[in-house]
Amino acid sequence: MVVGELTQEMDLLVIGAGPGGYVAACAGADAGFHTGVVDAADVPGGVCLREGCIPSKTLLNVAKIIDEAEMASKFGVSFEKPGIDIKKLRNWKNSVIKKLSSGVEGLLKGRQVEYIRGKAVFESSRIVRVEGEENMRIQFKHCIIATGSSANALPESLIARDLYWNAAEALEVEEIPNRVLVIGGGYIGLELGQVYAGLGSEVTVLEVLPQVLTGVDADIAKPLVSKLNKQMKAIITSAGLKDAKRNGSAITVTYEVGGEKKSEEFDRILVSVGRRPITKDIGLENTKVDVDDRGFIKVDKQLRTSDKRIFAIGDVIGNPMLAHKAMREAKVAVEVIAGKPAEFDPACIPAVVYTDPEVAWAGVTENEAKEQNLDFTVSKFPWAASGRAVSMSRTDGLTKMIFDKKTQRLLGVAIVGAHAGDLIAEGALGIEMAAVAEDVAATIHPHPATCETIAEAAEGAFGKAIHGAH
Ligand code: NAI
Repeated sequence: MVVGELTQEMDLLVIGAGPGGYVAACAGADAGFHTGVVDAADVPGGVCLREGCIPSKTLLNVAKIIDEAEMASKFGVSFEKPGIDIKKLRNWKNSVIKKLSSGVEGLLKGRQVEYIRGKAVFESSRIVRVEGEENMRIQFKHCIIATGSSANALPESLIARDLYWNAAEALEVEEIPNRVLVIGGGYIGLELGQVYAGLGSEVTVLEVLPQVLTGVDADIAKPLVSKLNKQMKAIITSAGLKDAKRNGSAITVTYEVGGEKKSEEFDRILVSVGRRPITKDIGLENTKVDVDDRGFIKVDKQLRTSDKRIFAIGDVIGNPMLAHKAMREAKVAVEVIAGKPAEFDPACIPAVVYTDPEVAWAGVTENEAKEQNLDFTVSKFPWAASGRAVSMSRTDGLTKMIFDKKTQRLLGVAIVGAHAGDLIAEGALGIEMAAVAEDVAATIHPHPATCETIAEAAEGAFGKAIHGAH
């Protein structure tokens, strides 16, 4: 302890002000706790708001507008080739971040939650030291760790760190490079790859596994992959990076595919090969908090760590690393601290890849249903049979539902198509509420809307969908 440092007392201290942390802090204050939240950043919101979900969606929207303007020529409406003012684009993206982070600041202030800027380090199971402009010590009754995750780096022996962008750096949109290589065809690689392709870069994706978006059923990934194949120079799967060297202003990359080594030049490289939990350097060794061999904090169903007054939520406790999972966990952790019999035990956690078309799923995928030997039936409804999709010229979609064969209970939904991320909520609600096929099919869906494909797929599972194939 530094002599003279002030020790504050708090009912609830939250470490990290991302989607998990700020929601926990708000919920804590709402539950009547004197609450503080510590974060090293100037403003709350976390990676999601500052350099993740929000800026990427802002830029994906721009890429989509460019694509739609081009598509409009098919309907007899032609626009000129877009001119891109990169400074204005960057300012627009930054203004969205600013607006939303001010919103989060307002939520915290309105509840008298203290936002403490600095780095939190545990001194013990009851005390956190905050190293910031003003150092302080906080003695808490309960603490929630929501420190999130950081981008994985590739080994320096393969590629030097100064030769590539991580997602945060790519989201700065400092330039629109001519040739971009994206290493890793997951959520970030495909979203940001599509952003740069939309802005005019020639994009190549290098994925080590045989399929991009591993985990997503191949028929659901297909419409997206078809579109990306048109927008990008190449998607190279089962490909391993071997070497990357600076060559003037370019970078020469060597990779191996099908036993053959190939070399190509790129102007910029984005590495998006997953994320890791942030558990180092926060003094966990001074507590009884246990961490697994991959660095994730171990918690029980009540989100309690092995140190009974310390809870953990969000990316730091494991996959899926999704903001909405963290937000729900935040509420559960606060309920538990407030003495309620809560548990984090969702029937599903929806996932969305915000490319165009969007890919979204909730519950079991078909691959998982097979792996788990479930007795299931699959029903698919192609968007080519949706009046709304045809009217928008967006038939590049598919709605797929998985039901238990005997009970007809909904087990999983996967949707690819325009705004699939908004549609998936119905699937998640159906799974969470133990809906059977008839519940979904008999619910009147608005016409014409792409959500009708959900009702049609449900109708087709154990009978015949009126607009389905016969
Ligand atoms: P990811 O796990 O989604 O994808 C990483 C990809 O990189 C995988 O396909 C993997 O096989 C591949 N890979 C790994 N090592 C490689 C190598 N050496 N060479 C080539 N490919 C390699 O991870 P990503 O895209 O970095 O995103 C991290 C996390 O952030 C996601 O898992 C997700 O939880 C979250 N996220 C969520 C978004 C959303 O909800 N829309 C958007 C962006 C990120």
